[in-house]
Amino acid sequence: MNVLLGASLVAAQGSFHEWHPAGPNDVRAPCPMLNTLANHKFLPHDGKSISQEIVTHALGSALNISAELSEFLFSQAITTSPEPNATTFSLHDLGRHNILEHDASLSRADYYFGQDPYTFNKTVFAETRSYWHGPIIDLEMAAASRLARVRTSNATNPTYTLSPLGSGFSVGETAAYILILGDRVRGTVRKDLVEYLFENERLPVKMGWKTPKTVVASDDLFGLMDRIVNVTGLASSDARALLSRSDLHVGRAAV
Ligand code: HEM
Ligand SMILES: [Mg+2]
Repeated sequence: MNVLLGASLVAAQGSFHEWHPAGPNDVRAPCPMLNTLANHKFLPHDGKSISQEIVTHALGSALNISAELSEFLFSQAITTSPEPNATTFSLHDLGRHNILEHDASLSRADYYFGQDPYTFNKTVFAETRSYWHGPIIDLEMAAASRLARVRTSNATNPTYTLSPLGSGFSVGETAAYILILGDRVRGTVRKDLVEYLFENERLPVKMGWKTPKTVVASDDLFGLMDRIVNVTGLASSDARALLSRSDLHVGRAAV
């Protein structure tokens, strides 16, 4: 009874059609998708006190992400909480520099340039999207845009660093927008959907996007990451190794 009641209360949250941007007391992340899910109330709109149950339900109901992949992502997110033995995190925690948040983001300036890894940055995103030729982003374009950001940060930010974990996340984030918004078999995604998500932090429902029909599991993510590192020319096993090992801080840095 309690379980049913609890499930229905959680299930009541989130709407594909309602959308409210962050208000003055709400916090947001350096992650365009988690911000989007908070704006649609799949995650708490204030961005605070996010438990594993909330993450699993939000990612499952909005994006058809498996419980196993959600649990893995939560296990990473919780490391950003400043509280010892925390059971929840806030979207703001995710921006603490060089835990999960890293340099060379696709749409945020490096921490060094303004201590603000949260806010969408038009100039940074302009560089990223300049590699997306035509209406469809393919794996080559996605990989090239990520690599360009790495190279630019490396050349311009004197404190530039990308740890193995940061590198794994960086590749994972490129894989994620293809996986959730596009075609995971072809490795392609509509550019307008990706731009809309980044620029508005809103699900591109009006443009015809729907929740993936097939569940998104960690194998899908790692498989796409492998393909991205392959076209980038990195050692092919790096990205998978970086995100699948329990001791995530060991490994060699990749570009
Ligand atoms: C609990 C789940 C998740 C966590 C903890 C998380 C965490 C993060 C963090 C910390 C960043 C900042 C990295 C940086 O650029 O410095 C980030 C960026 C990003 N995330 Fe998430 N994320 C999650 C789920 C997702 C999902 C489901 C998607 C699907 C589209 C996604 C897409 C992205 C993208 C595209 C970026 C790159 C933003 C940029 O480079 O400007 N994330 N995420
Ligand atoms: Mg960043």
